[in-house]
Amino acid sequence: MTHFAGKSFLKECDYTPRELTYLIDFASHLKQLKAKHIPHPYMQGQNIALLFEKTSTRTRSAFTVAANDLGARPEFLGKNDIQFGRKESVIDTAKVLGSMFDGIEFRGFSQQTVEQLAAYSGVPVWNGLTDEWHPTQMIADFLTLKEHFGHLTGLTLAYVGDGRNNMANSLLVTSAMLGVNCHIGAPVDLQPSAAVIKLAQAYAAQSGSEILITDEPQAAVTGADALYTDVWVSMGENVDYGARIKQLLPFQINAKLLAATGKTTTIIMHCLPALHDHQTAVGAALGKKYDLAAIEITDEVFNGPQSVVFEEAANRMPAIKAIMAATAGHLFIPDRLFD
Ligand code: CP
Ligand code: NVA
Repeated sequence: MTHFAGKSFLKECDYTPRELTYLIDFASHLKQLKAKHIPHPYMQGQNIALLFEKTSTRTRSAFTVAANDLGARPEFLGKNDIQFGRKESVIDTAKVLGSMFDGIEFRGFSQQTVEQLAAYSGVPVWNGLTDEWHPTQMIADFLTLKEHFGHLTGLTLAYVGDGRNNMANSLLVTSAMLGVNCHIGAPVDLQPSAAVIKLAQAYAAQSGSEILITDEPQAAVTGADALYTDVWVSMGENVDYGARIKQLLPFQINAKLLAATGKTTTIIMHCLPALHDHQTAVGAALGKKYDLAAIEITDEVFNGPQSVVFEEAANRMPAIKAIMAATAGHLFIPDRLFD
């Protein structure tokens, strides 16, 4: 039995900073194995369920490819394919899936659902995004930062935009856990909840990370090594798109805000999908003619030389592979490191 074997991956704070660091380094290792065409079938013969209540490009693709590389067979279960969510409870679904599959990925609305799946399935459950947290994204994002800068401690990550969504929560807490300074720039009513700030502050007191929550975009980005944003309206959110755009436009990542970092080495990050060009902005904004060149990040910055958004997206695969392989019971360094 190895250190992570049988554990679920539901939110960052279920793990220690050391364990998260381990998963980041394990992801890097698995990425190198794949690049060198060295087989790594750590889950040979296993079957995993990919349960999606919401749509996905990266998470679904990453779980599918990672499972195949590890020798496991993935099975996609979309919300319209199975009884779950209509005529069968989460608990009954968990028991049935757990009796057949060796692991379950879940993407959906409620954190409670993924927690229940983990509690009743008896197999590792991996959170592929809920309204509260996006933990698999964190392993990819901090791997991307580590690859780019060579280290994490002491870096400053500034996240601007909707500061109350899953990405803001995860980035704030993970930064604080790993000694990365975190600035959140958002209007007061879109700033992280008191509970999330308190959790992050407790970790920051241990790691030395500095936390800044502000409604001034320029103050938020000053000194940032990484400038991060996400969509202004998340999946399943029922808000007035026009009002949200008006409220968040001062937090748009554009050339002016990038210059306000005061650094020329700042990298641009985004979990994707992004509204950055006219075509997707008009199409996605609920059929209305919003452009505003073009919502949360300008095309110029999104596709500019400082952007690492596609490296970040590619890192979702080895990150998810590391999480699955570790919780399926395989480590590339001995367990005694965790004694
Ligand atoms: N970043 C991310 O989770 O992308 P998908 O929604 O495409 O999975
Ligand atoms: N905040 C976004 C993240 C998507 C990966 C959403 O929940 O839709």
